[in-house]
Amino acid sequence: MTQIDSLRAKYLGAVLEAADEPALEAVRLAALGKKGEVALMMRDLGGMSPEERQTTGKALNALRDELDAALRARKAALADAALDERLRAEWLDVTLPARPRRVGTIHPVSQVMEECTAIFADMGFRVAEGPQVETDWYNFDALNIAPEHPARQEHDTFFLHRAPGDARPPHVLRTHTSPVQIRAMQDQGAPIRVIAPGRVYRMDMDQTHTPMFHQIEGLAIDRDISMANLKWVLEEFFSAYFGARVRTRFRASHFPFTEPSAEVDIQCSWVGGTLKVGEGNGWLEVLGSGMVHPHVLRAGGIDPDQWQGFAFGMGIDRMAMLKYGIPDLRAFFESDLRWLRHYGFGALEAPSLHAG
Ligand code: DAH
Repeated sequence: MTQIDSLRAKYLGAVLEAADEPALEAVRLAALGKKGEVALMMRDLGGMSPEERQTTGKALNALRDELDAALRARKAALADAALDERLRAEWLDVTLPARPRRVGTIHPVSQVMEECTAIFADMGFRVAEGPQVETDWYNFDALNIAPEHPARQEHDTFFLHRAPGDARPPHVLRTHTSPVQIRAMQDQGAPIRVIAPGRVYRMDMDQTHTPMFHQIEGLAIDRDISMANLKWVLEEFFSAYFGARVRTRFRASHFPFTEPSAEVDIQCSWVGGTLKVGEGNGWLEVLGSGMVHPHVLRAGGIDPDQWQGFAFGMGIDRMAMLKYGIPDLRAFFESDLRWLRHYGFGALEAPSLHAG
């Protein structure tokens, strides 16, 4: 009996001292395992007298059950402690406010380019592109602007530096999006209907001019396209863009790349210093246009005896100012965050023909 008592004391103590599950398992094996001390004592029962066997057997069974219960209890306690420890270590304060994230805005120029593209796309115009560093042939000659033509000076062109003996053709920063007309005609032939939004450059800087600005070019060539089609397309465009019926006025003008040429005004009113498009008796010049000159068609690889059509070019920045009431062009390109947040658009305000 004393042996059983000392086993009980020994193993109950060991169970309580076991610091983790592996230690506890070692205690279990030492006591209750096949070769554990309790099992060995059970084996000795065979050599005992029946009375002795009965009392010792009972006591050993009781000891085994008691140790088993103690082991289980300790195992559960260790698991609880481990969980508590994990909960403590992995604690996360979900009530902490999120760190502020800076959200950018879409620049009015990008927004307006998308708006214009959506409207013209609906009328069957595809977007065409060309390089901003352009040869002077595409920028001028192909558009019927001869080297001595005054337009070359009027455009205040940025010329790229050329080392003496450089065999490459002279390059300029394109002064308008019109060279994209030539590239598009060369690429796609006739019939063709494209718009070309993009950056252009001129050496000019005041409240209404910046050295870099944006234009959108339009070109439609087919067998019998006329100025009437031009007028319809532009009125459709302005009405969709400004969200009101906008009348246009065509004034005879001159561009080397069109014949005849017209400058186009849109109807507007000035009330209390605010300009409103689509109402009133005032007119605002917004665009140059005309019937594409035969020389220009030929430069684009299109036979002027077979094909004809219109072209137009307008300033995107100007369009943005008119629609969104932005007073100063220079602010467009100053990257002032306050300005960008005020006039910028959210990423979800994607232009479409049915959004306001
Ligand atoms: N390229 C002209 C400019 O930058 C705008 C222009 C006028 C484009 C008449 C055209 C056009 O396509 O037909 O001032």
